[in-house]
Amino acid sequence: MGAEVVVEGLSTSFGRQPIWRDVTLTLPPGEVSVLLGPSGTGKSVFLKSMIGLLKPDQGSCTVDGTDIVRCSERKLYETRKLFGVLFQDGALFGSMTLYDNVAFPLREHTKKSETEVRRIVLEKLELTGLSGAEDKLPGEISGGMRKRAGLARALVLDPEIILCDEPDSGLDPVRTAYISQLLVDLNAQIDATILIVTHNINVARTVPDNIGMLFRKELVMFGPREVLLTSDEPVVEQFLNGRVRGPIGMSEEKDSAQIAREEAHAAAGHHDGSVDDVRGVVPQLQPTPGLPERQGAIRRKDRVMSLLHTLPPEAQRGITASLSAQDRLRYGVDGVDGAHGPDGAGAVAGILPR
Ligand SMILES: Nc1ncnc2c1ncn2[C@@H]1O[C@H](COP(=O)(O)OP(=O)(O)OP(=O)(O)O)[C@@H](O)[C@H]1O
Ligand SMILES: [Mg+2]
Repeated sequence: MGAEVVVEGLSTSFGRQPIWRDVTLTLPPGEVSVLLGPSGTGKSVFLKSMIGLLKPDQGSCTVDGTDIVRCSERKLYETRKLFGVLFQDGALFGSMTLYDNVAFPLREHTKKSETEVRRIVLEKLELTGLSGAEDKLPGEISGGMRKRAGLARALVLDPEIILCDEPDSGLDPVRTAYISQLLVDLNAQIDATILIVTHNINVARTVPDNIGMLFRKELVMFGPREVLLTSDEPVVEQFLNGRVRGPIGMSEEKDSAQIAREEAHAAAGHHDGSVDDVRGVVPQLQPTPGLPERQGAIRRKDRVMSLLHTLPPEAQRGITASLSAQDRLRYGVDGVDGAHGPDGAGAVAGILPR
């Protein structure tokens, strides 16, 4: 089972410039989470802080009982081996072939023989669809291939936690779908805890168990996917629907005059090109048939059902609507829609039972 990561009251700044403050969240073991946020809100900085590459000013990040903010260098080095990280730029060594890039952590961190290294490298290259590209240099392949090579390298040490910084940026829709499926399948196979930073709404809506959102130097929300997908919190709602209208602007935040102008524009019936009325819980991406069920998803069901009564009604409906008949019996949820909400209606647009 993947490791749990508990982040508490984490704050980071560069000089006098605060990046974000007081971030608290838990990545439950083996669950997949997505971190959203406009450009420049510090998502990459957050990932780097989680592995101790950047030192936060305050707070803790506890992995497997070790607070990586305060532990010794040696302990940090050990704990880092639990992580597989796909950096935003891929961070491949330009002068090394893909084979050597992917082999690098194994040669650096283990005493495995070259035969063993070869077996693992070829396996990960195959898993990420890069068989045959072993001898290529990073400069000779496409951006999508570089992303996948970065992912292959992140996987060689059998990580318990996988951090992916924009695995889908610069990919076409088909390859984005492919990498989403790859991450879900990987999670089913190795039960690692996964955190994905993405700007892709589709990935955010279909891949994770949990979603978080950074905005204005804070973690606005972090919780079960159903909570954010049905949220009417303006920032979350705007982002997940890709709207121009809302608090997020090109230079990150808009002033109230600008927001008012846009509201008036929309009220006059003008459309901003966003996909309207897609709010709601859509079915989650499942592992490819033949693969084991995601253990993280099984554990999550118990976890989320135990906090169901604390969630907003729409989120509750989203969760119960996706339960199977068997689960309904098990958790004592009744009715066709299983609504726990005040009106008991259940049938919210966009919520599809699985
Ligand atoms: N090493 C550093 N030293 C100083 N400032 C930094 C450093 N790394 C990042 N920053 C600043 O921190 C802020 C957040 O950067 P970060 O790269 O984390 O944003 P992001 O949310 O990942 O954006 P994007 O979606 O564009 O990748 C930016 O203002 C950036 O300039
Ligand atoms: Mg980034």
